[in-house]
Amino acid sequence: MPLVSTRQLLDEAAKGGYGVGAFNVNDMEQIQAIMEAAKETNSPVIIQASRGARAFAQDNYLYHLMLAAAELYPQIPLSMHLDHGNSFETCESAIKLGFTSVMMDGSLKPDGKTPATFEENVEVTRKVVDYAHERGISVEGEIGVLGGIEDGHGAGGSGLEHVTDPDQAVEFAELTGVDSLAIAIGTSHGAYKFSKKPDGSVLKMDLLIAIHKRLPKTHLVMHGSSSVPKDLQDIINQYGGKLKETWGVPVEEIQLGIKNGVRKVNVDTDNRLAITGAIRKVFAESPEKFDPRDYMKPARAAMQKVVALRMTQFGQAGHAGDYKAISIADMAKGYANGSLSTKPLVAAK
Ligand code: G3H
Ligand code: 13P
Ligand code: ZN
Repeated sequence: MPLVSTRQLLDEAAKGGYGVGAFNVNDMEQIQAIMEAAKETNSPVIIQASRGARAFAQDNYLYHLMLAAAELYPQIPLSMHLDHGNSFETCESAIKLGFTSVMMDGSLKPDGKTPATFEENVEVTRKVVDYAHERGISVEGEIGVLGGIEDGHGAGGSGLEHVTDPDQAVEFAELTGVDSLAIAIGTSHGAYKFSKKPDGSVLKMDLLIAIHKRLPKTHLVMHGSSSVPKDLQDIINQYGGKLKETWGVPVEEIQLGIKNGVRKVNVDTDNRLAITGAIRKVFAESPEKFDPRDYMKPARAAMQKVVALRMTQFGQAGHAGDYKAISIADMAKGYANGSLSTKPLVAAK
């Protein structure tokens, strides 16, 4: 299947009542791990690259690796998504390269750290939506600010500092016409999300449910959704790592989100942990080895295992064959003739 729009994947997920994992990549082995997991579980999948990933891998390498994935796995619906675009120009360059969806994260200023005003967020997001929809590309916006991150994108602090206000979410969706909306309900990027196992009162699931009730057609996105499993932390620490005790988002909370309109679930940290643990194990147990394949193969397999498990837990497993690709040109026609419009957005209160 050619690379398809994330909007198509999320529309199908809404019909089927499941969520789709969006997994971050920086290199070939991560793409391979995701595609093998998708094949193993027969899942549609979103592969996403951050600005950091684009800088690390270089755009052309990333794009051609994604084309290779689409060629090698024609049975898998696959989209290529820009994670946390920080400006119109970043989104524009991704679209010109061939990404089939972009996130314009206008919740932060272009520095990726300072919270932006509501008006600034609306202005830049609407500009990206106009540009992207004309070209058949879908757009994710963000309202509210996530917590974290140790490095990279994020305002820092706890995930509860800038949770999403449902009235603002509705106004934002109405003013921008985004296809999907990332909301802040207490999660953070990175490994250090919670210092004890979070219960229902820590994550603001009531907010999520309220937003979905009022915006039933706008697909919700949960960022910072790694579960930071203890077994993956233990492998790293057993082989010389120094992770501090930490908790991630329990899978049951993500599943509750999926029952209430979450269609895209962003996971990066769990895969980073799996890869690092597998590599540390080889280094510790076989210090004589120096062929990168000796540690990259188990690293790739460890990531595949995590991704396949998440695909099953999010419910996307088994759905790869449900539908045919809609071309990006036809998506552009759908935006132009209004058939892909999410309006009227707002359900009666
Ligand atoms: O949003 C955060 C993702 O985990 C990507 O992280 O910016 O370090 O590539 P990164
Ligand atoms: P994690 O750090 O929880 O994996 O979140 C990743 C993410 O939200 C990418 O946008
Ligand atoms: Zn994120």
